[in-house]
Amino acid sequence: MMNIEKLLSCYNPATGEIPGAPVLKRHLSDLKGCFAVVEAYDQVLTQSNPLLYSVSAVEPAGGEGDLHYGVGMIMPGKIGDEYFMTKGHLHSWRPAAEFYFGLTGDGVMLLEDEATGESRMVELRPNGAVYVPGRTAHRTMNVGRTPLTYFGVYPAKAGHDYAAIAKNNFRCVIIERHGKPELVERKTLTPAARHP
Ligand code: F6R
Ligand code: ZN
Repeated sequence: MMNIEKLLSCYNPATGEIPGAPVLKRHLSDLKGCFAVVEAYDQVLTQSNPLLYSVSAVEPAGGEGDLHYGVGMIMPGKIGDEYFMTKGHLHSWRPAAEFYFGLTGDGVMLLEDEATGESRMVELRPNGAVYVPGRTAHRTMNVGRTPLTYFGVYPAKAGHDYAAIAKNNFRCVIIERHGKPELVERKTLTPAARHP
């Protein structure tokens, strides 16, 4: 049996912090190529490099049937009409699914089937659980005015494949239209449509 330190960890749902767990912080400069409107991205970056999100991860064991979890916190904010978001990834071990549980704030997840490109926008809210099937690229956005925190549980061997997203990005973009998040195809974002 594992020792008690590995069996129990306590997370802070307001900050996403887990005492003793490593924290990964991503700033705007780490998300080059993620936002659709490059001019808006570059303009903000010339003035500041805000923290977009942090993730604390707990990895008790790395065996075949083991699980890991991460608690994420995404800050509120936008680049143009796009919300602050995560880089997004596929799992290196493609069959790996994941559960996300909303803790605080208002979020949405962008899910994209790798094989078909079919895309869905799913709300990530307190008391809500989002199932991310295997072979599905996922990216999370804070669509509210307060920090979004969430809990994600995934197979220990899932891994992160960022390269596929860096190459082709997601087919769709979630932007704010009339005060609400809306899913649109990236290719429809002509310069005129970007700034209605
Ligand atoms: C793990 C997972 C989350 C993300 C986190 C940050 O499989 O999906 O813990 O790692 O939401 O997102 P990325 O990794 O896309 O920067
Ligand atoms: Zn994942």
